[in-house]
Amino acid sequence: MTPPTFRIAPHERPGLEAIQALYAASPLRRPIGDAARLKQMFDGANVIHSAWDGPRLVGLLRGWTDGAFDGYVCDLAVHPGYQKAGVGKALMALLFPEFPRVRWVLLASPLAEGYYPHVGWKPLQNAWEQSHPDRPGMPSFEAFQSQFAELASRA
Ligand SMILES: CC(C)(COP(=O)(O)OP(=O)(O)OC[C@H]1O[C@@H](n2cnc3c(N)ncnc32)[C@H](O)[C@@H]1OP(=O)(O)O)[C@@H](O)C(=O)NCCC(=O)NCCS
Repeated sequence: MTPPTFRIAPHERPGLEAIQALYAASPLRRPIGDAARLKQMFDGANVIHSAWDGPRLVGLLRGWTDGAFDGYVCDLAVHPGYQKAGVGKALMALLFPEFPRVRWVLLASPLAEGYYPHVGWKPLQNAWEQSHPDRPGMPSFEAFQSQFAELASRA
């Protein structure tokens, strides 16, 4: 089978509807049912790189950095029809030359635990988290996929 073709677009932010559809399809559990919150997630990010096949959004990386020391990759999502074709690797490759003094960290989805070591990321033993007790949680993968099946079909 011919590998899918794609174009990497550094610093190109897609529209919210395309992001919702891509995250539903990948799947990447983010609050895609709350458009205002999703918009705030992107307004607050300063690293957004996308991948396209013509007009179709096929990959997206969202993160933030101070540009000098710290960086966090918040989201990495690739459309199922374009996975394992180098899209994720190409999006992440943009991080390092632009910010050579930054150390990037991320939280791996259970679906991608084997991915990050495979593409050069090292595990951390000293990562910790805390949030407001009322922070809304995310549904299971099964619930997320069934809730957003219609959105996923638009990706
Ligand atoms: C995980 C994900 C981002 C990987 O992106 P991708 O574009 O499919 O991966 P790439 O094409 O860059 O793969 C690079 C290499 O990693 C391998 N790989 C891809 N997914 C993998 C996985 N889940 N586990 C282990 N290795 C994986 C590829 O086979 C390839 O290997 P090679 O270089 O030896 O040929 C993508 O599968 C995805 O969007 N998954 C659903 C959402 C998700 O879990 N995102 C991560 C959030 S933390």
